[in-house]
Amino acid sequence: MDILESIDRSKLPKHVAIIMDGNGRWAKERGKDRVYGHHEGVLSVRDIVNASAEIGIQYLTLYAFSAENWNRPKAEVDALMELLVNTIRKEIDELKKNNVRLHIIGDFASLPEICQKELNEGMDMTAMNTGLNLVLALSYSSRQEIVNASKRIAKKVADGTLKAEDVNETVFNEHLYTSQFPDPELMIRTSGEYRISNYLLYQLAYAELYFTSVHWPDFRKNNLYEALLNYQQRERRFGKTSEQIQTNSPQHV
Ligand code: FPP
Repeated sequence: MDILESIDRSKLPKHVAIIMDGNGRWAKERGKDRVYGHHEGVLSVRDIVNASAEIGIQYLTLYAFSAENWNRPKAEVDALMELLVNTIRKEIDELKKNNVRLHIIGDFASLPEICQKELNEGMDMTAMNTGLNLVLALSYSSRQEIVNASKRIAKKVADGTLKAEDVNETVFNEHLYTSQFPDPELMIRTSGEYRISNYLLYQLAYAELYFTSVHWPDFRKNNLYEALLNYQQRERRFGKTSEQIQTNSPQHV
């Protein structure tokens, strides 16, 4: 049977988060420059965005550039920023056509102005779309996000607009970049690394983690379907026992 047909559409994760790793190694294995790997990686981004929209995933968050990535050689950083601008420009019509809404999380102000402008246009032009929410994590650091949220909450407590005893998980969540999105149920990392790398540390508390040795430029629709199928075969218990889960709900929880 076709792998796509094996996927139960009623038990899809609402939110899939991906660490797109391995562009550099993929390029090196072919005797090419790292930037070539990033260019090929964009083709995977397009394929995975389309597949996610088609199958009915509601949120897809892609780790496109971490706060730590600023420390890479300038030529690579510049190439990635240029690739980002060109990709948004080139793909915007396709995003509109496919009812995809673009969002950004991360330290937006640290991005070059041209990127900010292109991304703002992309977000505005897709703001009315109701299908897949495509969230790009750019200049993103989860620790920074948590520290910033704590700072904003502390300020509100200090100026009296929030009581310390009213700070709970809901309030904390409202101060994260991801406040409008549900937590990811599935996190995929490509390229054989078993790390979270400062990605959505708070939001991934109960996510299923899926690691594959496939490098990002080779990760296409069928690899996503495999990850979804694997996710559907897992039992999500949220701290309960297996028996409780089966008694309370025969459905996937
Ligand atoms: C990790 O591979 C990948 C990145 C740091 C950048 C990801 C960017 C893209 C896929 C292209 C641009 C994205 C969009 C959304 C337009 P790596 O370079 O760390 O690979 P390595 O671990 O093999 O060195």
